[in-house]
Amino acid sequence: MSEKNIALEIKNLKVSYGAIQALKGIDLTVYEGDVVAILGANGAGKTTTLKKISGIIDGEDGFIKLYGQDITKMEPEKIARLGISMSPEGRAVFKDLTVEENLKAGAFTMKDREKIRKNFERVYRYFPVLEERKNQVSSTLSGGEQQMLAIGRALMSSPKVLLLDEPSLGLAPLIVQDIMKIVKEIKEEGTTVVIVEQNAAQTLKIADYGYVIELGKVSTHGKASVLADDPKLVEAYLGKH
Ligand SMILES: Nc1ncnc2c1ncn2[C@@H]1O[C@H](COP(=O)(O)OP(=O)(O)OP(=O)(O)O)[C@@H](O)[C@H]1O
Ligand SMILES: [Mg+2]
Repeated sequence: MSEKNIALEIKNLKVSYGAIQALKGIDLTVYEGDVVAILGANGAGKTTTLKKISGIIDGEDGFIKLYGQDITKMEPEKIARLGISMSPEGRAVFKDLTVEENLKAGAFTMKDREKIRKNFERVYRYFPVLEERKNQVSSTLSGGEQQMLAIGRALMSSPKVLLLDEPSLGLAPLIVQDIMKIVKEIKEEGTTVVIVEQNAAQTLKIADYGYVIELGKVSTHGKASVLADDPKLVEAYLGKH
């Protein structure tokens, strides 16, 4: 068996918002090429974990390493340049910009025009509807299309590690399936993915490994296939089959 590289290593991560400690010491290991799911109830600390990895909020303790390099206290722009890119919660695209302008903005770390062209191709291959609507102002896209744009924009910087915060939130079941299929394709093309989802059952089907966060701590972790069969988890997060 070949040894996998560790893409992201997180140890004892603690983050507070004023008096509220949202992360109380999170440990998380993401192997290169995997899809890792982060599951948990509302307010558990999932978004906070992704935001801290991207560098857009500060932590109090612990460390984050990307391929062995300590990024814990780096500026978000530097972290983006090193290869971490996030599709934020809630379809956060630039609403006044067109689809194409949003995607271009996602390539802000890239200088190589040829690579940018290839990334446009890649995004339009995953989401043909975005190419059809490339000149459309993003505020006029449907919710699902905006979600696709948020993911597409995050891919424009050729990330090593793609962070997805609830990509399926509020989408119709068929579109959720499409998004999950595309996440799998993104992985198969070599991008490591960390995905936060409420839609636990479907996410565990495409994930390699999963973490459950409860009140700012990891309560359970394991292979996705094992978590999907854990009766306690099924009851708490996965709903009835
Ligand atoms: N900017 C903030 N100021 C104060 N408290 C915050 C802030 N952002 C998050 N929190 C608190 O931190 C905790 C974790 O929030 P977080 O957004 O990480 O949860 P989550 O797991 O992503 O939840 P959800 O599933 O609802 O998106 C919550 O108790 C939340 O109220
Ligand atoms: Mg969240």
